[in-house]
Amino acid sequence: MGKYLITGGAGFIGSTLANYVSKQNEVIIIDDLSMGKLENLSLGETTVFIEGSVTDQTLLEKVLSENEFDYIFHLAAVASVADSVKRPLETHEVNFESVLMLLELTRKYQGNLKRLVFSSSAAVYGDEPTLPKKEESVIRPLTPYAVDKFAAEQYVLNYNHLYGIPTSAVRFFNVYGPNQNPESPYSGVISILIDRYKKLLSGENVNFTLFGDGSQSRDFVFIDDVIQALLLVANEVSAIGTQFNVGTGKSIALNKLINTIDKELDLKLPIDYGNERIGDIKDSVADISRLKELNYKPQNGIQDGVKKYLISKGLCT
Ligand code: NAD
Ligand code: UD1
Repeated sequence: MGKYLITGGAGFIGSTLANYVSKQNEVIIIDDLSMGKLENLSLGETTVFIEGSVTDQTLLEKVLSENEFDYIFHLAAVASVADSVKRPLETHEVNFESVLMLLELTRKYQGNLKRLVFSSSAAVYGDEPTLPKKEESVIRPLTPYAVDKFAAEQYVLNYNHLYGIPTSAVRFFNVYGPNQNPESPYSGVISILIDRYKKLLSGENVNFTLFGDGSQSRDFVFIDDVIQALLLVANEVSAIGTQFNVGTGKSIALNKLINTIDKELDLKLPIDYGNERIGDIKDSVADISRLKELNYKPQNGIQDGVKKYLISKGLCT
């Protein structure tokens, strides 16, 4: 039995993690519900949900001074790259400043912490063309989101080197699966796609907007593999002070992904072509050797993961 703080714990990745660890541990969640949803959570008796912002210093100070945590997962963020291009000041407060504040409060109050894990992003690599991306590859952040993630990640790791706080960072590639909220135009592309297929199957007139020509590719990683990675990183002592790519090591172009789902559902999704998004990365794929050294074994290729996602939404059997 341990005690966990999960910020952003009503969101996609945070709620999946919270539901998993709360079976055997005490969990406190902080989320402002800007993207997360309470219905993502199956709250047990040992889970406390606090609706509030990670930018609220009074709230964070109260939670960190009144509890002794074993693990802190800082997942709260404005997760959309495109949204950060629209609202750099607002997203900076959440994506960077909250991290520094949390680190300072951890230094002040959490003397017995086993691990703080920060969710960084593959976006930090930007468009430097060498693939696959290794943790030591060139960093070329293209957007406010990516700049904030890289700066925050470096602070997180430096708090280990400077003050001995046990920290690690994960650079997620493109995570997908149930609990991902498709309702914002800035939601993850697979959640939007599956929402459109669902509407199409129920007879609605829908279109999906593809930004660019669809040749851009991503390393899409299924949520179950991400939870496996988070738990390994949080529990392996050798992961302290280090960052890890979290992906599958394989990528797929959006066009091909859409064809695959079309075939699976025996449908043809109507597509509108829009302009490529500013700051969009062309190709992204992870080298996952470092994570594999912790015994990470991704179980779901894109076909398996998408199928599980479709089944969870009742779109196929
Ligand atoms: P998400 O939007 O589902 O989860 C983020 C959660 O943070 C949401 O529940 C939202 O309501 C909450 N939140 C936002 N602002 C907040 C604030 N000021 N105070 C408190 N809560 C706030 O996104 P996700 O996909 O679960 O992402 C989790 C983390 O992983 C984020 O840090 C994101 O940047 C990072 N990440 C995600 C991906 C991906 O592909 N999903 C890839 C790389 C990194
Ligand atoms: C995603 C994550 C980001 C993470 C990064 C790591 C989300 C919302 N974004 O960013 O948090 O740090 O991976 O690699 O989870 N697209 C369309 N139509 C749409 C939506 C998107 O064509 O309706 C395209 C985009 O232009 C892009 C691709 O799909 O080329 C993926 O977009 P998106 O899912 O937003 O992910 P990233 O920008 O890669």
